[in-house]
Amino acid sequence: MKESEKNLINTEGERIEKENKTELLGLELTDFEEKYLTGSLDLIKQQEEAFDENDIREAKEDLERCLRNHERDIHYFVAKDKADQIKGLAGYGREELSPEVYYLAWFAVDKELQNQGLGGALLKKIEEELKEKSQARQIIVRAWDKGPDDPLERFYKKFGFEKTGGIPDYWGDGYDLIFFTKRLKPKKEVKNENH
Ligand SMILES: CC(C)(COP(=O)(O)OP(=O)(O)OC[C@H]1O[C@@H](n2cnc3c(N)ncnc32)[C@H](O)[C@@H]1OP(=O)(O)O)[C@@H](O)C(=O)NCCC(=O)NCCS
Repeated sequence: MKESEKNLINTEGERIEKENKTELLGLELTDFEEKYLTGSLDLIKQQEEAFDENDIREAKEDLERCLRNHERDIHYFVAKDKADQIKGLAGYGREELSPEVYYLAWFAVDKELQNQGLGGALLKKIEEELKEKSQARQIIVRAWDKGPDDPLERFYKKFGFEKTGGIPDYWGDGYDLIFFTKRLKPKKEVKNENH
């Protein structure tokens, strides 16, 4: 495979092999840059069921901070078409309280392209990069708990995440937080000195 073909994603219309991420859609996964800021925010705005006004403001701040600071432990990717239209966005950052844990941030796929493998491709890209970091132990997602029938839960479970807890009314009264988490390394045996 040519180097330039490595990051091409698949989704050519017909029956697409979701696991084979190298042909379809004619999209390219690439690093987030300033020129993709507006398109990325438009993509977040499009996801009305997932993100509200506050989220959009916060996303803008986070993405702008990422462009300013170039921190090694915050990285966003976009999926763009040949006209540089943003069709997917996903990023990760490092948890302040536990630096071996990374969180998934501002994850969204254009509504018209959802459920065709793009979200999985973005997630895989992030996981591959985190696995290269020797200290990265776990990846976590903070989401809004819409119950067990939520496609989001199906999505994360499909990609090996577990539902590991939650906080009632975290996002506002009646809007519970749910965590999906996935280990990036096998668990070490912990000896409990008290037993
Ligand atoms: C979550 C999201 C990024 C996933 O991207 P995607 O490109 O749709 O996901 P993929 O096509 O790679 O994965 C599809 C799998 O996810 C689940 N899924 C995703 N969307 C679904 C839908 N609308 N209906 C049913 N299942 C769905 C299914 O398990 C599906 O696999 P299956 O068909 O083999 O069962 C996308 O749905 C999205 O942008 N949602 C709105 C924003 C959001 O909620 N972001 C996450 C905040 S934590």
